[in-house]
Amino acid sequence: MELSLVIPTYNEKENIQQLIKKIQEEFTKNKIKGEIIVVDDNSPDGTGKILEKIKKKQKNLKVIHRSEKLGLSSAVLEGWKIAKGRFLGVMDADLSHPPEKIHEMYSIIKNGDADIVIGSRYAQGGKIKGWSLKRKLMSKVATLLARIYTNVKDPMTGFFMLKKEVIEKVNLNSKGFKILLEILVKGKYRAIKEIPITFVNRTHGKSKAGIKEIFFYLQNLLGYLPYKKKVVREFIKFGIVGISGTIINLATLYLLTERLGIYYLISAVFSFLVAMTSNFVLNKIWTFKESMKLKIGEKYLKFSIISLCALGVNLFFLYLFTEFLKIYYLISQVLAIGIAFLVNFVGNKIWTFNE
Ligand code: GDD
Ligand code: MN
Repeated sequence: MELSLVIPTYNEKENIQQLIKKIQEEFTKNKIKGEIIVVDDNSPDGTGKILEKIKKKQKNLKVIHRSEKLGLSSAVLEGWKIAKGRFLGVMDADLSHPPEKIHEMYSIIKNGDADIVIGSRYAQGGKIKGWSLKRKLMSKVATLLARIYTNVKDPMTGFFMLKKEVIEKVNLNSKGFKILLEILVKGKYRAIKEIPITFVNRTHGKSKAGIKEIFFYLQNLLGYLPYKKKVVREFIKFGIVGISGTIINLATLYLLTERLGIYYLISAVFSFLVAMTSNFVLNKIWTFKESMKLKIGEKYLKFSIISLCALGVNLFFLYLFTEFLKIYYLISQVLAIGIAFLVNFVGNKIWTFNE
């Protein structure tokens, strides 16, 4: 057995039969020694019963029945546990992922050209069809946040393949939807390839992604920090630079106002600029270890924009906490500075210093 393809299902009775048929055709046409493992969470619509029926005629089709809806990622992991193949894969049951791409992806991984192959909506040539603007936007923001950890263009896709070794002895947390990102953070791999795909929104049934998924996602993002020592280091350094900037700001303000006799509000604007510039230089060469010359103008502009945004975020939360939550304004400011700091770090990490 070469390829074990897992399909998680929850209420997919209109889709699953057609998908399995297409995958089997791909396997036969391209002489892929593959198996299909469907993991069904006791779907109320009877997906499980349909599977039991078609299983009888297909030797390479396995079905795992779980007692209740236990989540997408955990279903995938459960399926991989009984996988016989050297290569593991996953795709959605709702025909959103093109089975025609299986062969191309499989060839790459089989030839050893990559340890992980990704069916990518955001690689050049990739597309999404049928999603609302809101869903597109949410996906974009989530993908952008993931850049803290990876440069993969579509770390949220539910269509990918990998060598078994990538996740061997790796402890994967199975909460939520985003199993690939978790593998990218914790797995053992060298080369990754992204193959453009067109994601077509389902025509039958409903998406199972909900508000809960957003919460799991943010929780997971924080939880990944210890796995990426580099990010932790950058985070701490960024904080130290921030403190140095505050001291420089105060010192400049004092000098300009007291020694040069400049009106204190004008001094404050200059102090802000001096401190921001010093922060920029230190973060560029020390925190993010870039050469000073690399795109210095463009990056200074980006850094300034994010600094201003962070200032906006600071003022917004200061106002919100003080006026609406009736928190004492100095305490509000401590909380607001914390949030602004996070925005500042994440913004600069994924936008300004992302190369
Ligand atoms: N067994 C099981 N248990 N399967 C589940 C569960 C569950 O709790 N929740 C969802 N699934 C199955 C669905 O039946 C479907 O086959 C697949 O997982 C994807 O679920 P959808 O509900 O269709 O997700 P989506 O289309 O909103 O999200 C897709 O795109 C995301 C990228 O934006 C998925 O591919 C996600 O993995 C992906 O992150
Ligand atoms: Mn779907």
